[in-house]
Amino acid sequence: MSAIAESLPQPLSCDIHCLDCVAFLRRLPDASVDVIVTDPAYSGMNQHMRFGHGRIVGSYGKPGNGRWFTEFHDDPDTYRAFLAECRRVLKPNRHIYIMFDSFSLLSLGGLVREFFDVKCLIVWDKVAIGMGHYFRRRHEHVVFAAKGNRKLSRRDLPDVWTVPRIRRAAYPTQKPVALFDLMLAGSAEPGYVVCDPFTGSGSSAVAALRQGCSFIGSDIDPRAVQLALERCRTFVSRGVDPLEPRAGVSRLRQRPARATG
Ligand SMILES: C[S@@+](CC[C@H](N)C(=O)[O-])C[C@H]1O[C@@H](n2cnc3c(N)ncnc32)[C@H](O)[C@@H]1O
Repeated sequence: MSAIAESLPQPLSCDIHCLDCVAFLRRLPDASVDVIVTDPAYSGMNQHMRFGHGRIVGSYGKPGNGRWFTEFHDDPDTYRAFLAECRRVLKPNRHIYIMFDSFSLLSLGGLVREFFDVKCLIVWDKVAIGMGHYFRRRHEHVVFAAKGNRKLSRRDLPDVWTVPRIRRAAYPTQKPVALFDLMLAGSAEPGYVVCDPFTGSGSSAVAALRQGCSFIGSDIDPRAVQLALERCRTFVSRGVDPLEPRAGVSRLRQRPARATG
């Protein structure tokens, strides 16, 4: 376990564990987190591409070469185990946001309904087109769901989010913090505990800290955990996100936070 303790105001915390998502969630008590926002490392699209429908981008085909991260084995049984743990750790009357690429949405998205009350399917418009041999990919999805009854605290949020993808990201598939800001905008309150079992470079953690929330997350890759912790430490101490230095002004200036390790 790694956490950031210096300079976060009590009782806020920022803990990032180097663990498999399900193992991490199993360590958390029942009903202990307020919002789950997560961006799993699905293997579906890469398997699809491996079967001759496209070119594998990066080095997914060469595990251990140090460039790309491990895929999450997102077969239905593993995914159900993941969702069951998400439901257990989430407090009643709270929200969960899960990101999906198109292929994973078709194969796994429906399973979310077995565990949560799915409210909306949000489209993330990445603005610039990406790879693809047919229609080139410009969007991903976010499934928004609830455990129990809870409305959004805002009524002005659309279900298409136009947020430019990050070019030349420091971490593979690093998502803009603005995407997680939107997930938290109507679902988090200052002091809430935000959880991301696939933390990656820590974009969700920075969004949580910006909202005056605590963060608890995990990633199976120690390099990701180290990067996310360093990122959060810099954000907490200087109010600047080193991986997105031109992103919005830190909320920490308004409500200082502290991260512990
Ligand atoms: C799509 S990336 C997340 C990117 C993150 N949202 C960001 O903005 O940097 C998915 C992450 O899941 C991690 N991962 C893969 N398998 C995992 C597992 N079984 N448990 C936890 N994390 C895993 C990968 O190391 C990777 O960092």
